[in-house]
Amino acid sequence: VKKIILDMDPGVDDAAALAVAVNNPALDVPLITTVAGNVSVDKTTNNALKLLEFFNKDIPVAAGAKGPLKRDFKDASYIHGESGMPGYDFPQPSRQALEVDAVTAIHNELQAQAEPITLIATGAYTNIARLIQQYPEDLKNIKELILMGGSLSGGNVSSVAEFNVFTDPDAAQIVFKSGLPIVMIGLDVTLKALITPETTNALQKLGEAGKMLYGMITAYGDVHVGGKPMHDVNTILYALAPDKIKTHAQAIEVAVDGPAVGATVSDFQHRWHPADFYNAQVGYDIDATEFNQWFLEQVALMG
Ligand code: BDR
Ligand code: CA
Repeated sequence: VKKIILDMDPGVDDAAALAVAVNNPALDVPLITTVAGNVSVDKTTNNALKLLEFFNKDIPVAAGAKGPLKRDFKDASYIHGESGMPGYDFPQPSRQALEVDAVTAIHNELQAQAEPITLIATGAYTNIARLIQQYPEDLKNIKELILMGGSLSGGNVSSVAEFNVFTDPDAAQIVFKSGLPIVMIGLDVTLKALITPETTNALQKLGEAGKMLYGMITAYGDVHVGGKPMHDVNTILYALAPDKIKTHAQAIEVAVDGPAVGATVSDFQHRWHPADFYNAQVGYDIDATEFNQWFLEQVALMG
């Protein structure tokens, strides 16, 4: 069983990622932390708690950053709805978030673990950057940092910037310079793995969890020719079966200023890095048909 801490901003695709992660017996999620992104951190925290109550899981949740390190916060409620989880009526959760903030909670969890564990970040990387700055001794306790974000093939916020990196580029820069073993699952992968209308329809027959995800995905505003990207779910697939997403080593920098702000740029010719410098494994390919099939299998596991 693989231990993973999830740092997220649910968000429709974060919600689906959370749902897969907490219901797959091959994964153990000791902590979920939240960040402002798709909607405010109050809402992303409440959404994480709602989902955990839906699945009857008492995993602790800690609330993190209310906005980027240095910039103004702009949400993505135009895609994810005002609540961040449209299309399904959840009762208000009975549990509350931990008293401690996300960074302290991740630090405590990493300290409590006997072995280094995997961290998955599917929102802006504000909490992760703060952890790196406040607790540099924790880096050795992170086995792998799997990120949803970035792109080497065009953005979804501007022509070059992806939303999670664009939301807090300063945090992304800290993360990519940290020396942590990073796997970047960006739009290069997630836009190849669209959930088709057939898959979405098939969810309706997969119990209450299927109905819940059907409602959310139907209301989700991230529409592409051929289907809807469940960006963040790809990180969970990678955690479970890394061979299902092809990656290659890259030297990645983050643009923090100017018209390309929020872009992840690859120095693939090593023109301004040493020849042996690589700071991330970057995903570039996935089989969309297999991904759709796998997603339905995961939802079937949710009971
Ligand atoms: C990313 O941005 C968010 O809106 C999604 O949840 C995903 O993490 C895609 O660019
Ligand atoms: Ca997200």
